[in-house]
Amino acid sequence: MVSKKIKLIPPYLFNEIDKLKKSIEKPIDFGIGDPDMPTPAVIVKEMEKQIKLKDNHRYPSYEGIIELREEISNYFKKRFGADVDPENEVLILIGSKEGIAHSLEAFLDRQDEVLIPSICYPVYRTQTILKGGKPVEFPVLFENYFIPYFSDIKKRLTEKSKILFLNYPNNPTGAAVDKKFYDQAVDFALNHNLIIMNDNVYCDVYFSKMRPPSIMQSKQAKECSIEFHSFSKTFNMTGWRIGYAVGGSHLIKALKQIKMNTDSGVFVPIQKAALAGLKTIDSHIIKNNVILKKRVDVLCEALLEKNFEFHKPKASFYVFVKTKKNMKSAAFAEFLMREAGIVTTPGGGFGQAGDDFVRFSLTLSDADLREGVKRIKRLKI
Ligand SMILES: Cc1ncc(COP(=O)(O)O)c(C=O)c1O
Repeated sequence: MVSKKIKLIPPYLFNEIDKLKKSIEKPIDFGIGDPDMPTPAVIVKEMEKQIKLKDNHRYPSYEGIIELREEISNYFKKRFGADVDPENEVLILIGSKEGIAHSLEAFLDRQDEVLIPSICYPVYRTQTILKGGKPVEFPVLFENYFIPYFSDIKKRLTEKSKILFLNYPNNPTGAAVDKKFYDQAVDFALNHNLIIMNDNVYCDVYFSKMRPPSIMQSKQAKECSIEFHSFSKTFNMTGWRIGYAVGGSHLIKALKQIKMNTDSGVFVPIQKAALAGLKTIDSHIIKNNVILKKRVDVLCEALLEKNFEFHKPKASFYVFVKTKKNMKSAAFAEFLMREAGIVTTPGGGFGQAGDDFVRFSLTLSDADLREGVKRIKRLKI
């Protein structure tokens, strides 16, 4: 009865883990990548105000309110030194996940090939399949800090190659790149006629002096790239559903065309509340990242004490840790759950190449983290 492509979507890998989690009395949850901290008060207050205004209850514009697009343009200038035109190069999204899915609809023809990292946010793979494209993996290796070599990507190019997915700071590996990497990526894309879909939703979650860059800082980026941003992680707003895309006007225009025929934009009070957040972004980021840095330090110290192998992240809130005892990721996640009551995400869910790792997410309370760390230190391993 349902479409054939539904059968092509891999089964939900985390079902067994979820079942097991329910069987444990007090699990400590390093599994979900969903910020535990509250949405900043300034955003909630603005929402309270805006929701009372009846004009805000009507259909929003497809591209998003101009005040928010202008503030995004200001933010790009201040944060990245990059110019984006609020009229033609910014589009408000119902979360970046929606934008990623609809961009594939806008850019792909049947059987076009999409280059995705061998370990990545699963939506790149599943949405490529759903849109009739073919995912082609390129390696990202622990030994190279999960950053690809362009020579490896080049080997996988065919005349059908259309899109290159990049995501730094990365989910699930915690890897980050510098501007030079994006300069190379843009050169590569222009030379090989590719569109870069750059997922930058973690650009403001960082704990070192190096602030994660935007691909829009690279010359000619707009000719070949679209970049996704989100209010979800920066402002602890995962449930509100708002993000945005910036990029070349031809790419933004195509994405808008799909969206106009599919959804009807983001509820205006949510956009106004997000605008209040963006105007005061520095104070939120500083507060969030100080807390997250402490959590990263505490977890990494415990993992080191138990001789786990991993790269300490400079950004994002994930630590991607090698399994032990020659176990694959689902077995090792189950072992951690049974032996220590700790929930992690099996790396195999991010691609087969991730199957020797589990992901720890630092979106749990400090009290839970302390308990989790105690349990890790007690592990007999
Ligand atoms: C790498 C990455 N991109 C995109 C998203 C989607 O975020 P949202 O749709 O909430 O903006 C997530 C969520 O976990 C993510 O980890």
